[in-house]
Amino acid sequence: MKTFQLPEDFLFGSATASLQIEGGDRHNNWYRFCEEGKTEDGSHCIEAADHWNRYEEDIDLMTQLHQDTYRMSVEWSRIEPRLGHFVDSALEHYRTEIELLLEKGIRPLVTLHHFSNPIWFEDMGGWANKDAVLWFDRFVRKVVFALGDLVQDWVTINEPNVYLEGTYSAGNFPPNKPNFFNFFKAAKYMVRAHIRAYESIHEIRRDKNHPGKTMVGAAHHLRVFDIDHKSPGGILPASMMDHVFHNIFLEGMVHGKFIFPIGNGGYPLGKGPYCDFMGVNYYSRDIIRFSYKPLRLFGELTVKEDTEVNDLGWEIYPEGLYRVCKKVYETYPFPIYITENGISDLKDEQRGKFIFDHLQVIKQLIDEGVPVERYYHWSLIDNFEWELGLEPKFGLIEVDYHTQKRTIRESGKFYGEVSKSGGVTEEMIDKYSFLN
Ligand code: FCB
Repeated sequence: MKTFQLPEDFLFGSATASLQIEGGDRHNNWYRFCEEGKTEDGSHCIEAADHWNRYEEDIDLMTQLHQDTYRMSVEWSRIEPRLGHFVDSALEHYRTEIELLLEKGIRPLVTLHHFSNPIWFEDMGGWANKDAVLWFDRFVRKVVFALGDLVQDWVTINEPNVYLEGTYSAGNFPPNKPNFFNFFKAAKYMVRAHIRAYESIHEIRRDKNHPGKTMVGAAHHLRVFDIDHKSPGGILPASMMDHVFHNIFLEGMVHGKFIFPIGNGGYPLGKGPYCDFMGVNYYSRDIIRFSYKPLRLFGELTVKEDTEVNDLGWEIYPEGLYRVCKKVYETYPFPIYITENGISDLKDEQRGKFIFDHLQVIKQLIDEGVPVERYYHWSLIDNFEWELGLEPKFGLIEVDYHTQKRTIRESGKFYGEVSKSGGVTEEMIDKYSFLN
């Protein structure tokens, strides 16, 4: 194991999403999904990690882990539980939470949409309804009016590709109604919504003279699609997947270019850039084989044989982070924030080494001139992993859901030390056996 240091101004943080940790909200589509008993492990999001009531304790834990920054999201269904009805106390709650972060020297990065919708929105067709763009923009403006003086860094939408794949392709996200046409309709409206949000955030912060440089981007889930050499028929599906999963979103959300099948290559809202940083969520890669499933673009996603995987069977492939960042930076030369990277690892046997390996890749990227400026580990605490329920354990901090007791995992302690010293030292390598 080699020691390394990241640049002085590199920021270390961790990420969460409101629905996955807060608990207590009955106005969102995931609450209804759980009520209908649809999570794979039968668990429910109604309590989750009870962060809504325990945010002070969680911020205290962040300070123990020497975090420079924290990526969190605000819950639309709490702020607008009925169409056009806004709840000031919800915005005030987030204000208090963010004030506390700032007081502790932790810089907030706030996500405006992270997979969850108000029930009213979903029942009106969700993102496949053209009006979604207007409704979302109105919500965004409310939030930025309320919090824009405190927050300069924003993520508009988290992983539209994964959200739409779950919602309209695989159909394992609410409302569980796969529909090919809705996938592309909603993709178009999400790209439009991102562009409007980008403009609204800049406009409000500029007009009100809020302090600090405004930084707005989206969090893009980028994957490596490699071909199974035993199945050369995988070449075409892999390139179609790359187009549908990556390119339509990147071209739209960065440049404002609506490419087939969400447009004809024009710029209906004007040319961008609509992005100040590139948010990269990186987890794993897929090996693509040919399959006779047109709705899956004739591809089947498989996992490389005989390779190390996490608790969910996802390949652990740090080199993929190198590959996606190199590739995305060639086409879109913006500063990169790794807005998510993490591992489901109940026994905490792999997480420490996983963090080490991915940070080492970041070091290499920086040395080669790719400006990676931040790293947000997914996740700060164990949380509700969507259709999989509470079972997967992604936290640097373990949560006992019976007592809500938090315990920092060994890998969390290691990450805290990395964040404090800006890199990995000899002492850490001697101290943490999982690194050897
Ligand atoms: C990402 C999501 C995040 C979390 C991780 C494991 O796709 O953005 O909410 O579920 O996966």
